[in-house]
This record gives sequence, C-alpha cells and structure tokens, in this order.
Amino acid sequence: METAEIRRRFQAHFAENTSVGEHTVVPSASLLLDDPTLLFVNAGMVPFKPYFLGQESSPYTRATSVQKCIRTPDIEDVGKTTRHGTFFEMCGNFSFGDYFKEGAIELAWELITKPISDGGFGLDEKLLYPSVHVDDAEAVALWRKITGLPDERIIRLGNKENYWSMGVPGPGGPCSEILIDRGPSYGPDFDPAKIGPDMPTEIEDRLLEFWNLVFMQDELSAVRSKADFDIAGSLPKKNIDTGMGLERVAYLLQGVDNMYEIDVMFPVIQKAEELTGRKYGASAPDDVRFRVVADHVRSSMMLISDGVTPGNEGRGYVLRRLLRRAVRSMRLLGVEDPVLPELMPVSRDKMAQTYTTLNDTWGRISSVAYAEEEAFRSTLKAGTQIFDLATTEVKRSGGTMLSGDRAFALHDTYGFPIDLTLEMASEQGLSVDEEGFRRLMGEQRDRAKADARAKKGAHANTGAYREVADSLGAPVEFTGYDGTVSEGQVRGIVSGGSVVPSAVTGDEIELVLDRTAFYAEGGGQLADQGIIELGNGAQVEVVDVQSPISGLIVHKAIVRDGEVTVGTPAQGIVDVARRRSISRSHTATHMVHKAFREALGETATQAGSENAPGRFRFDFSSTGSVPTSVMEDVEARVNDVVLDDLAVHAEYMSQDEAVRSGAMALFGEKYGDTVRVISVGDWARELCGGTHTERSGQLGVIKLLGESSIGSGVRRVEALVGGDAYRFLAREHVIVNQLADALKARPEELPERVGSIVEKLRAAEKDLEKVRVQQLLAAAGALAEGAVKVGRVNLVAHRADGAGGGDVRTLALDVRGRLPQGEPGAVVVIGNADGKVSVVAAVNDQGQGAGVSANELVRAVGPLVGGKGGGKADVAQGGGSDASRIDEALALVSTEVARMAGA
Ligand code: ALA
Repeated sequence: METAEIRRRFQAHFAENTSVGEHTVVPSASLLLDDPTLLFVNAGMVPFKPYFLGQESSPYTRATSVQKCIRTPDIEDVGKTTRHGTFFEMCGNFSFGDYFKEGAIELAWELITKPISDGGFGLDEKLLYPSVHVDDAEAVALWRKITGLPDERIIRLGNKENYWSMGVPGPGGPCSEILIDRGPSYGPDFDPAKIGPDMPTEIEDRLLEFWNLVFMQDELSAVRSKADFDIAGSLPKKNIDTGMGLERVAYLLQGVDNMYEIDVMFPVIQKAEELTGRKYGASAPDDVRFRVVADHVRSSMMLISDGVTPGNEGRGYVLRRLLRRAVRSMRLLGVEDPVLPELMPVSRDKMAQTYTTLNDTWGRISSVAYAEEEAFRSTLKAGTQIFDLATTEVKRSGGTMLSGDRAFALHDTYGFPIDLTLEMASEQGLSVDEEGFRRLMGEQRDRAKADARAKKGAHANTGAYREVADSLGAPVEFTGYDGTVSEGQVRGIVSGGSVVPSAVTGDEIELVLDRTAFYAEGGGQLADQGIIELGNGAQVEVVDVQSPISGLIVHKAIVRDGEVTVGTPAQGIVDVARRRSISRSHTATHMVHKAFREALGETATQAGSENAPGRFRFDFSSTGSVPTSVMEDVEARVNDVVLDDLAVHAEYMSQDEAVRSGAMALFGEKYGDTVRVISVGDWARELCGGTHTERSGQLGVIKLLGESSIGSGVRRVEALVGGDAYRFLAREHVIVNQLADALKARPEELPERVGSIVEKLRAAEKDLEKVRVQQLLAAAGALAEGAVKVGRVNLVAHRADGAGGGDVRTLALDVRGRLPQGEPGAVVVIGNADGKVSVVAAVNDQGQGAGVSANELVRAVGPLVGGKGGGKADVAQGGGSDASRIDEALALVSTEVARMAGA
C-alpha cells in the first residue's frame, strides 16, 4: 500500500463518523512553530499544545492530522538502525476532553485490524501486542475487553517506554503502544509476559512499535530524562494524543525492511546507486550511507521549504549538518561531483504528491540547497589540501599516525568530519589518533556547554515565567499597535530567576503587566524602551522587552525610584522617538523585500532581518552577489513609494485569505490561526506582528549602504532610513565637497579626475621601475670588470641589498654576459629585499665545462641564508629568510667554485 494511501485511510477513518463522533481534519502545521522550548515540531500534538494545557480553548473537541516532524537528537543513528529518520510524518487522532482510553484503543484497533478490502490496514491480530504502563490496570482491562487478547499478550512497561512527554515542561501522560512481531529474521524469540519494565534492545527491530496512544492527563513542571520528571498536577481535562509513524506502517505494509526503502524514499537511493555505480544491499557501511542520503536529502528539502536557511546555530545549523552529511555520504560512496541537483528533485517528485508547495517554492529550495553544497565543496577542497600537507609531513617523518590535533584542526577550521579524515587517512595507509581527537572535541563541547549555560543564566528559567503566566490566566494584552502609552497593573515580578512579590530602587527586575504598549523583540524588530510609572509614585526604566513564552511580555527593567509591588497600577510610557524610528525601519524592510522580489524574482525571499532605530538589515536568498544596477533600481523604487505616500495598514484575516491576497511568508504559523497582514498601499503585503508607520511618506528617505554575502546563498543588505539616511547623505556631500576643493574639480568631475591621477601614478611607478633596472644593469659592467680569478674561473660574488628575486636574476645573467668571452665564468648574486633573501647563480658554458654548476652553488650556499632552491648547471635560483649570513654565504662561493673547478 502506498504511503499516500495509508495517510488517506488514516484520515478517512477518523474523519468519518466513528463510534465517538467525527474528527476535524487539521492540515499539518509548519515545522517551525513558534515555541521557545522546541527547535522543530517533533510530534503531532505540538500544534495543539495550548489546547491540551487549557491556555486556549480548542475550536474542536476531536481532531486528526498527519503532521510533519523533525527529530534530530539521534542524527548519528540514521541509517544504522532501521527506525530512525530525521524527518517523518506522524498520523494522529486527538481528543480534547472528549473520549479517553477506551475510545482511543477501540479506534486504533479497528483501523489496523480491519481488512484491507474494507479500508483498514489488515494487520494480523496474532502478530499484534499492546503494551501498557505498569501501573495502568485500567488500560489492561480495556485492551482485554476490546481485543479479546489474553492477559499474557499485554506487555507492561515502565516510565522510560510508556510515559510520554515532550521532553520539556508541558503536557504528558502514561501511554499504550501497539507493537507487531516481524518474525525471527528481525530478532530472537521473546515471551511477552516476561518483558518489562524496560524493552530489551535486541528485540526492538523484531517487536516493532508503530502506534503510541498517550493518555494525556498530567502537566509536567520539569523533565530531567524520559523516566525522571516532576508532575505538577492534572491537566484541566483528560485528553488523547496518539501518534502512528506513517513511515513505519508504510514499511510494514509494503513488505520492505525499513523506512528508507518505502515508496517515497527509495527512489532517492536508486538515484544514488545510479550516480555511484554501487549497489544498495552489497555492503553494510555503504548501505548506511545510502540511507543517510535518502533521509537527509528529504529532511533538508522539507526544512528549506518551511523557511530554514543553512547557518551556524539553531535551526540553520541542523539544516547545514543534514545537507553536509548527505553530500559527504555521497563522497564516501565515491561521487565527487555536485549531487544535490541530481538527488533532491527525485525526493521532491515523491513528496510533492502530498506537499504541493514544494513545486511552487522549488526555485528557492533548490537555490538554497545547491548553494550550500557548493560552499561545502570549497570547504572540502581547502581541507583536502591541508590534509594532504599533513599526511605528507607524517610520512616524511616516518610516522604512521595523523595526530589528534591535526584531525581536530581539520574538523574545527575546515568542517572536515572525522569519518572523512579517517577514510582519507586509511587510503594513505595512515591511522588517526582518534582518542586525541575525541578528547579535543570533548573539551570543545564542554566549552560550548559552559557558554550555553552562561547564556541561559541570563534569562530566568522558564519555570518562573510559566508561574507568572499561569497566575495571569490570559495572555498579556499588547496595546502598542494603537498607542505608546498603556494603563495596566503589575502582575508579576521576576528577580534572579524566581518570582518575587516586590522590588526596590536599584533592583534589576523582569516585570510583567496585564496590558502593555511595549513591543517585545520579535519578527526582526528590536524591543521598545521607555519607563513605567506606578500608581504609588515608583518609577522603572525599561531597557529591553522579551517574550520568553508565548502570551507573556516581560519588561527587563531597573527600578529607578520607589517600590514595585504586584497589584500596583502601572502606566507604560514607550520612548516614542525610538519606537517611531524602529517602525520606519520595519516598514522600509517590507518595501525593500518587495522591491527585491520584483527585481530578482520570487526566490529572493527574506531569510532574516533586524529593524533598529534608523537602520535595518535585510537578509535574503540569492545565489550570487546582487548587481549594482539592481541595488540602484531597488533604492529608486522604494524611494518612489516613499514619495507616493501610500497608506500602511494592518488587517486580521485567516491564513487562507492571507495566502489568497498574495501575502508573503507563512512560516511558523499554525493552521487555523488568525494572522495579521501589513500592506503598504496595495503593493507590499506581508504577514507581520511588528509595528509600522502610518504612511510610507513618513520614512523620509531610504539609503541602501551595500550588500554582502553572509553565508551560502544568503545576501545581506544594510540600509538607513529617515534622519539617519539624511545625515549619512549630508556627510557624504561634505566629503565630496572637500575632495572637490582639494582636487580643484567640480563634484561631477571627481571620478574622472581621480581616475586620471591614479593612472598617472601607475605610469610614474612604471618609469621608476625602469630607472631602477637601468641603474642595476649599469652596475653590471663594473661588477664584471671586478671579477676575481679562482683558478681559471672568472668569479663575481655580489651582494645586492634592496634587490628582489626578479632583479637579482636579471643582474646575474647580465653580469655573466659581460665576463670575458671564451673563459670559464661564474656569477652569484645574493639580493635582500622586504625580508626575503634571493640567491641566483649563473655559470657560462666554459665554466660548466670546468666543472662549476649553478645548481650546486645554490644548494651549497642557500642553507646559510635559511633557504633552499636549485636549478640547472647554467642557472639556478633559491630563496631564504636569513639576511644575517649573506656575507658568509658569498665567502663560501669562492671556496665552492675552487672545489668544483679543482683549483
Ligand atoms: N505524542 C506521542 C508521540 O510522539 C503520540 O509518540
């Protein structure tokens, strides 16, 4: 059964009027939901979290979805086990305070055991084993009642397997899993009654878990590990959250071994076979690589599609690792040419059957992915040179092992993965000090962890915020779209990471009000600053504003005067000049974004931005640098829009309406959310939660300063707006006037004037060079005349301070030409310029006939000046760096000539 059909059957089963009523079909949310505790959506229930926690009321009591998920903690296991994929789809059914254990078990059992001809999955009951949490007697009774299975077929597992949480504070509960016995070829025989409380690893592939039914009833306040957590209390309602691994069911029903071989993934492996000329199934290490390729190509494509771009931290780093691991695995399979342009379209063709946006956004996805591959290829190239140098050195010194230091430097500086170093070293017959490497990696990791801890310490732990949020009961009301002064009340004070009842003058606190006009940093817009005046006369200065958990706005502030206590009325007064200036930047960013898309095409999508007072930066996807003409056009275009003085307005609408109205950037939104759309006239429409000017005319003027690359496929434009743009232009004007005065030219003549000055300077430098060479050669005559006889050989050994390599050679050859014809002659000139010593020896035919060799001369004297070199018997050249022994070297020349000529 094709994956698409499994998905369809799942949704149809729950959408139809089941014994508990029908479920609302909810489309998958983006992988990048706005949740500070998660990098990516990692389970089907994530978009529903606020409903489970009772923070928001759910628009439906029952729902079903097939949710895109990313899990990366076991990225190293991908391809090694048959179950781990970084991207996967989770089929789920959810009850928000509606049906509970019985309904969940009944519905799941029905779908998996119903014959295929009746729309089910037709799994053989004899092979199925439910598991329950050891303490959940109720679940045991229900399984027996609903399925008729005997007690000994029901496996009892402990917290580690059968208590589910998100790994972070939030909802959780005991669960029941459904497992299937895949037969003796996948593991040893087992006795279900004897399994538990942990699942023995050796039977995990054989007794495969494919559906998890979570009886969600607890709210967790701390999660230290899978089996170690604190339950803070019961959730407002009992819920059901289930997750059926789409890929797992697909490999069960398609009769293949593992998730990488299912219909939507295997074509990538086939393409890789074609490119590498190797066969999947022929060697275990190669198979792992094939699977890594299939998994990572798909995961990175899905991530880029949802708006991630490669970077060095957070989500961007995960993407970068996935792309690089895919490319590297292909290298290890023997392909050095670019591979993503071959592989990714194969994955797209399969996945676009479900995710049609992959086709619409393919231009952007492919340009981001391919640019990252190119960047990695140059990294590899640079690293390979360093690697070659290192191995040559090891071999020359007779060693057989590449040091841990070297392997670490390759990894750290050139992004060279250790297994690549290992592989390449073994090709050279060398081993690698892996232990040393791992020690250095460990030290680096510890440093990074300490860093992260230090950073985290800067914020209070989310526990304190959660406590304040809970006491509020409703999200903080943001009034700052309509004004910069708000009337509210102090509702929470956090100090030193804990909730406190009050604070006094001088205290640094984090203050929460029920209503505030202060904008919390977000969506690229910097935070407001200002003051908060309390009803009791106290005053607080707000230096930063953040939203550490959704629904909460936290003012980082210093108490300037008086006492701050919970419950006191509080008037928030935002620094208006700063806010206006930031709003101008934000509106300008939207305009610049739109203008770049007009100029460069739809692939020029925003990859990040920062809207600060008077200036902004805007990052967007583009494969090459942006031509100056485009920069000029974009600048002209946005300044025209400023003059057009278009109205800027905000509207709230459903996501569907937003898409239909042509609004950009739907990243991080949850299906069903109402979104805010900002429009500049009818021109630029974008989803945005930020603050803006009322009209485009308020921007005054926009000045683009320049553009540069900030990583593969991403360009950054920096710009000024309003008064800052004006002051910049005014300053440039003054500079131009000063130049015009100094050069006695009109401003418009400056480029030409400077050009001609530079040209003259170049011509003068050339003339100077000629004179220098003439002088040098003029000396040649005198030098030749001063030749001394060493035996029969006329020898000139000369020191030419200030002469570099080229001049020294010219001089040596010229002097040789002037030595008496028909007699043996040899010349050695040692020059010394810019810290470099150059040695050139030139010997004429008769000199060579007499046994003198230029090559031997350079080899003999070179080491004295700290260098080496060589050449032929007639001319040889070398270089060094030690000028202190030039005279000694010259003295050695006559001895050497005497020796060679047997004089
Ligand atoms: N949320 C549950 C899981 O991810 C269903 O396993």
